[in-house]
Amino acid sequence: MKVSIIGTGYVGLTTGACLAYLGHKVSCIDSDERKIALLRAGKTPIYEPFLTELLADAKANLHFCTQYAGAVQDSDVIFIAVGTPPSADGSPDLKYLSAAARGIGEHYAGDFTVVVNKSTVPIGSGNWVGSLVRESYEKHHGVKANGHFAVASNPEFLREGTGLADSLYPDRVVIGSDDERSLEVLYSLYRPVLDQTFTPPTYLPRPEGIGAVPLISTDLASAELIKYAANAFLALKISYINEIGQLAEKVGADIQQVAKGIGLDARIGTRFLQAGLGWGGSCFGKDTAALVATAREYNLGMPIVSAAREINQRQRERVVDKLLGELKILKGRTIGLLGLAFKPNTDDLREAPAVDIAKKLIERGCKVKVHDPVALERFEQECGSLGAVRCATPEEVADEADALVLVTEWQQYRELDYEGLAKRMRSPIILDGRNVLDRARLNRLGFRYIGMPD
Ligand code: UGA
Repeated sequence: MKVSIIGTGYVGLTTGACLAYLGHKVSCIDSDERKIALLRAGKTPIYEPFLTELLADAKANLHFCTQYAGAVQDSDVIFIAVGTPPSADGSPDLKYLSAAARGIGEHYAGDFTVVVNKSTVPIGSGNWVGSLVRESYEKHHGVKANGHFAVASNPEFLREGTGLADSLYPDRVVIGSDDERSLEVLYSLYRPVLDQTFTPPTYLPRPEGIGAVPLISTDLASAELIKYAANAFLALKISYINEIGQLAEKVGADIQQVAKGIGLDARIGTRFLQAGLGWGGSCFGKDTAALVATAREYNLGMPIVSAAREINQRQRERVVDKLLGELKILKGRTIGLLGLAFKPNTDDLREAPAVDIAKKLIERGCKVKVHDPVALERFEQECGSLGAVRCATPEEVADEADALVLVTEWQQYRELDYEGLAKRMRSPIILDGRNVLDRARLNRLGFRYIGMPD
């Protein structure tokens, strides 16, 4: 099939690479010339494991451009995968979405195409996008748009860092439309994934035991709500374990054991019960805010989702409280942060706890030193004005530090020479923000270990 994808962020690029790998002819469109130049040169503007390899393998089916003309006019499917960043009141800013919809209307010239919202958009946006596409088509072509376009929602459930495997071997595929034909088109598009008939790339082997992938085919509004409801549920699962963690700290319970003990009940499940600093990233914060904002439009409160957001914010404050408890005075102290990205295997800093924590500590008069295996450069570009000191190695972070905070659980931080690090520090205190280090071992190596919860 001929596919156009508007937006080459995490979602657009991953989708484009996977669909091209499956044999579809894919045009990836982005107005950012720098990104398109990089992609044409075989490089990626984001860090995502195996993306460079998959793009190279699918090269023959991929085309990168900055203009709609020459790409969308004869596409069978057009994905909109542009950013919907949060605006001040928590509702997503839809200016890129509306620009994409208008661009499609202006340049589409075939008989029938399915316009698919892949970006996470507020419930009801599908209908809105449909009307913008038709309006723009009629304005530029001077004829009625009747029948040329159908709109569908195809929410994305990929996680950054494992985006390609999540797309090729998903738990489920959700497609929503009020138009029967578009459901059929999308069914054909995803058939190789649904039936798992494609040959897996050597570097992304098919997980054992995966069978046919369930397809949820539904109306537009339900598909849109599924996306928000899924992310909000995952977010509240994390906040739930963090709330229980606060109590565990008071009563002297071990949160890891508690998480395991409840998670093994299949109705609850063990995943997303890792207590710690809480969630970051571009999705959970934005989507829970958007859900609350949408509900407000219907005069509906969302106390559970709102509480999950509050608890998540509180976790970041607790880092400052814990350091204050240990060091008594923060002014003039040197605190080292290990990890900046919002989670391992990505260089994404959006809503990353590290950025918030660095800001809070600097406001309190601390000197903050930071390290990350891949996100240092991006940190300089996006947060350079904060005044944190970037360090090339974890050892440099530890030099003369009063405390270290493990913020992102990169594998390499689990394997550091902690004995050597302790010797470099002014006071060997480590706050393990992700509860991944071995308390007994670190204590043995000379550290005062503090967990989250402790
Ligand atoms: C999330 C969802 O997991 C995806 O299904 C969804 O497609 C995506 O948002 C999206 O809407 O685009 P992502 O934000 O990439 O994916 O990352 P996650 O792996 O879900 O992690 C989110 C945050 O939760 C991270 O900061 C992580 O450290 C934190 N987390 C996760 C915990 O604190 N505890 C856990 O047990 C799990």
